[in-house]
Amino acid sequence: MDMRMIREKLAEAGQVHLLQFWGELSEVEQTELYLQLQSMDFQELNSFFQNAMKVSGHIKEEKIDEKMEPVPREALGSVTRDRDMLKEWQEEGLLHISQNKVAVLLLAGGQGTRLGVSYPKGIYDVGLPSHKTLFQIQAERILKLERLAEERHNVKSTIPWYIMVSGRTMESTKGFFAQHNYFGLKKENVVFFQQGMLPAMDFNGKLILEEKGKLSMAPDGNGGLYRALGTQKIVDNMEGRGIKYIHVYCVDNILVKVADPTFIGFCVKKGGDCGAKVVEKTNPTEPVGVVCKVEGKYQVVEYSEITLATAEKRSLDGRLMFSAGNIANHFFTLSFLKDIVQIHEPRLQHHVAQKKIQHVDSKGQLIKPDKPNGIKMEKFVFDIFQFAKTFVVYEVLREDEFSPLKNADSQDGKDNPTTARHALMSLHHRWVLTAGGHFIDENGTKIPAIPSLKDVTDLPIKCEISPLVSYAGEGLEKMVSGQAFCPPLVIDETGIHQLVKNGL
Ligand code: UTP
Repeated sequence: MDMRMIREKLAEAGQVHLLQFWGELSEVEQTELYLQLQSMDFQELNSFFQNAMKVSGHIKEEKIDEKMEPVPREALGSVTRDRDMLKEWQEEGLLHISQNKVAVLLLAGGQGTRLGVSYPKGIYDVGLPSHKTLFQIQAERILKLERLAEERHNVKSTIPWYIMVSGRTMESTKGFFAQHNYFGLKKENVVFFQQGMLPAMDFNGKLILEEKGKLSMAPDGNGGLYRALGTQKIVDNMEGRGIKYIHVYCVDNILVKVADPTFIGFCVKKGGDCGAKVVEKTNPTEPVGVVCKVEGKYQVVEYSEITLATAEKRSLDGRLMFSAGNIANHFFTLSFLKDIVQIHEPRLQHHVAQKKIQHVDSKGQLIKPDKPNGIKMEKFVFDIFQFAKTFVVYEVLREDEFSPLKNADSQDGKDNPTTARHALMSLHHRWVLTAGGHFIDENGTKIPAIPSLKDVTDLPIKCEISPLVSYAGEGLEKMVSGQAFCPPLVIDETGIHQLVKNGL
């Protein structure tokens, strides 16, 4: 161990406090800390910190309202406003899937601190009748879509699944997939890769010790994707497989339409190199980022960056002017991603997130702060919109496609296991109704499709349809039309469970 060199490096960067407990460490701990410090470029970290603080300070000072323009209609596709185009877009998407040109990329490197479980979020069971995890639901959607493309085009197709994890979640995620036999997918088509980590810092840019001999490290944000795509040779892997289009999404959205053929078909038909799926923001004060143009370039503008007056602005049709709510669900062409990795990524600035960071104080005592005491630096997946040549936006219905799992359950809580479970069951309930089935209560009385006002707070009907049976509500008529079901209703590959009466 060349400690002299490490000490010099740390002294130059003003980080020498990291060695304050050196004498108390065991030999093994000393080696571990040495290896951690040796691999770091402290000057680069200091410059990340300075730039990130500059950018975040600047955003707070200056509202950007005046420079914002909404997404123009010609760049926008909508499941409600372009109904007559949906079939054509879906066909286009299925064609590309059948030609093995489509891959999906899952962002699963987050720490899930708000949910508060010690394992990766994708392993979470939100309490569906089947007890399927988020990973299993997504895997089965991929399988079903491969089968739908095969039925349509008479060829076997593969949708490779790239899964980005962090150093903290790699082993448990890989182990979970192996233990479940990749949920029926081929092992070689599930590719795990690791995003980078960055050290946490206090508000003065000093690195933080989590233990006497260990730095506090965190993943570098979901925009860490772009660096990892290069360093982990994922772009090469995609190219080797002949992939042209990539659907990127977050692990925590239970309703996500993985590799959605209609979204992909829309983006391809429009000639987009970069696309965002959005949901309509209807409440001006909802703290969601909106996709819009700023000085002619696309970006996501956070709620905190604009005034209430701008958030409340309406278009002639009565909708909010800035209504394209970002849900981190994107389309990229491979050539666009290659440009990002090779040219633009190094120029992306980190964002600053203030966090409560567990650390040891100068006496070596472990401190669990109750308010933010430092920062983590992150890049965001949407930071690259600005580089798109043809940016397109696809608007979908929130109740059909977006219900993220962010928080632990609590009364009147939002985005938690209960809301995720209810969102999925309520979607599947609607699929059954649309396919001509209906529900009855235990006395055989028909349950109205639209609940009366006094019932709206009731729990949703328990209904779950396996993705292996239906990807997006298709193919259910032959199974449910004209049938009455007493919930709970589960439809999976082995059949219909809990069917009570026929032909009611
Ligand atoms: P969130 O920003 O909601 O973070 O991630 P999180 O880690 O899931 O939860 P909190 O904030 O700690 O409670 C949105 C998506 O981006 C991924 C997450 O896995 C999730 O799919 N993500 C986030 C990464 O892949 N890497 C990161 O460094 C951060």
